[in-house]
Amino acid sequence: MTHYDARLHVQGLSTYVDDVAAPHGMLHAAVFSSPKAHGKLLGVNDSAAKELPGVKAILYAADIPGENQIGAIIPDEVLLATDEVHFIGHPIALVIADSPELARHACTLMKAEIEELPAVVCPREAYKKGNFIAPPRTFAMGDVDQAFAECDVVVEGECDIAGQEHLYLETQRTRAVWGEGGRIEVYSSTQSPYAVQKAIAKILGLPNHMVEVDVRRLGGGFGGKEDQATAWACLAALGAQILRRPVELVLNRVDDLKMTGKRHPYKADFKLGLKADGTFMAYEARLYQNSGAAADLSTAVLERSLFHATNSYFFPNTRVEAACCRTNIQPHTAFRGFGGPQGMFVVEAAIAKAADVMGLAREVLQYKNLLKEGESLPYGQKTEGCRTHTSWNRAVEKFNWSGMRRAADTFNSEHKTKKKGLAIMPICFGIAFTKTFFNQASALVHVYGDGSVSVSTGGVEMGQGVNSKMIDIAAKEFGISTSRVRLESTNTTRIANMSPSAASATADLNGNATILATQAILKRLKRLVAQELSVSDEELEFKDGKVWHREEPTEWTWEKVVGHAYFNRVGLSEHAFYATPNIWFDAEKEKGRPFAYHVYGTAIVESEIDVLRGTYDFTSVKIVHDLGRTVNELVDLGQIEGGFAQGIGWMTLEELAYHEDGRLLSHALSTYKAPDVYFMPDDMEIEWLTEPGPTGPYGSKAVGEPPLMYGIGAYFSLRDAMRAFREDDYEFRAPMTPERVLLGLQGHHSEEPAEAKSA
Ligand code: MTE
Repeated sequence: MTHYDARLHVQGLSTYVDDVAAPHGMLHAAVFSSPKAHGKLLGVNDSAAKELPGVKAILYAADIPGENQIGAIIPDEVLLATDEVHFIGHPIALVIADSPELARHACTLMKAEIEELPAVVCPREAYKKGNFIAPPRTFAMGDVDQAFAECDVVVEGECDIAGQEHLYLETQRTRAVWGEGGRIEVYSSTQSPYAVQKAIAKILGLPNHMVEVDVRRLGGGFGGKEDQATAWACLAALGAQILRRPVELVLNRVDDLKMTGKRHPYKADFKLGLKADGTFMAYEARLYQNSGAAADLSTAVLERSLFHATNSYFFPNTRVEAACCRTNIQPHTAFRGFGGPQGMFVVEAAIAKAADVMGLAREVLQYKNLLKEGESLPYGQKTEGCRTHTSWNRAVEKFNWSGMRRAADTFNSEHKTKKKGLAIMPICFGIAFTKTFFNQASALVHVYGDGSVSVSTGGVEMGQGVNSKMIDIAAKEFGISTSRVRLESTNTTRIANMSPSAASATADLNGNATILATQAILKRLKRLVAQELSVSDEELEFKDGKVWHREEPTEWTWEKVVGHAYFNRVGLSEHAFYATPNIWFDAEKEKGRPFAYHVYGTAIVESEIDVLRGTYDFTSVKIVHDLGRTVNELVDLGQIEGGFAQGIGWMTLEELAYHEDGRLLSHALSTYKAPDVYFMPDDMEIEWLTEPGPTGPYGSKAVGEPPLMYGIGAYFSLRDAMRAFREDDYEFRAPMTPERVLLGLQGHHSEEPAEAKSA
């Protein structure tokens, strides 16, 4: 059980888009983009750029032969700007030259003539103006107004939650090769090969089968290449089609940071009503999503904020309204958790506020109101196999919560300038694409005459280990060693109409499709051997590279069976299709059963702050996570650690700073701080629950996104430490940078972010 890529990575042998040998005559592209956040595009002066020797073409919207449109959910995003620009970094032209340096240099010689229009950067302002991507949505249950009237305690407040940069190691890139009959072959760093195929076909005016997209692996995606790899792929393909030459487009780090969307920043208002004994009675919130200049995946991200707005708690009465607010910054996009984390942060803030007001520990309210089996979530789905209490109880017992609390209290009473904080963070995260139709997958399995196996699925390897899991599954089904199985690149010609690798569902969907394909082949092989041995099929088992009959090995090895099958004209290939059963959602009523199941878990995060400097350390994190019967323990453990690291980064260090004119100021790693290995707690313990899940392969449960939300515990752990120094009503503004800790401790509110001033 290793991560299949680990060996290749450490030897530098894994191949990415850049490692595919450059085809003869390949040209390089760079993007000329808007320097203004909003304005009328009157023209572009490109004469100096055109005169540069080696510049082959400068392409504009008018050069697009098909439809100039890449909006996947709502058609509101042109590939190249026409008469208006909507954010700084909005692509205007594609420059194609002999080298990437030359193409970039040519861009610096170009000048756009733009008549500036007012720019909106703050989502609250956009909300007031009614600048929506789509009509706001509300998830409601019970009678909220009546319930508030009957509450003993009601608290209200606001949250300000920053976005997050994906910081995949491999920036956005595509290589497009023009081929026979005008067919385009594309090597793209994308989580959605099919989305790229469709978009290129639309832009170039071709049928889908004239575009082939191939993905070996990504140097990270984290959601940032679910929809946002598409534009760069379309641009490279446009250049390739027009010039009939291979064209590569690579965004350098600064352009990638400036031009691509990020995790959506949110602002929020909340109101929480409780009984005197701490029982939650009513929860009301309004979420203002800063969607950026175009829809991208914002409406779907918003929907998940609504699904997870009550996290792991039961509220008999809820009303959460959420709006995609259109602003003049990059169109924001998917990011691990897909809006869920923002919704969860708000309810955790409301609980913290209520605890402060009632003079109770936050965890008392959390525990009292944890979801129970069979309770209804605001969207109508009832909890099945609910593990809120199991994971919470296991965490507090196994890791001795009360001892940790006592030790922290003692430490705090003994230290004036250092304070320890603790927080418990339960999670409940739904698994399935919330757009039901996406919950489908195919796998193509070939067994060659020598017994080696080739597996193709629609899953994209981006570091999360899906390829390792597919290999493990195929090997297990055939009863052979994993070294006999090769996982092919993800390719639109082998697998049609694939869903993006996202929503943590890739291993579930593609793993089940792989099981179906291998089982279909296995069924034929069993029949064959059963006939030869004159026994029944059910008595045979394939394991350890042999066929077993009633627990006894036979002389039929895997190679012998496969060879025999070939000469007897038994099919050794299978294409199988899987669709997640029993999920649906009625968007009119905002009710349904959108998720195949939920993933639960509980984290305890301990921090220590330096009161004089505002600096802090996370001294320990203890996690009990609901993995089910894991297919690959090491891979899953890596996902829990990695998800948590990304979660604490989002909550504490990673601050996206915008100027009020819409410019991203933190557009390099010198101004944007991501957590490094030293930032991770030295003491990290992970324990997992092994009760099987309902639909994952062999009872496994999805793991890609849920652990990120344990990072929210880091924020509340710091707040707990701050309250040990001074019991203030600290604002709910993330990330909780050392600067904000220090200002907070000194009784100041941190400076309003620029986007609040844009009015
Ligand atoms: N892990 C690594 N190393 N790199 C990534 O890009 N993406 C995350 C998560 N883990 C990611 C990762 C995101 S955003 C998702 S949705 C899932 O992996 C997708 O893969 P899965 O569906 O196989 O879990």
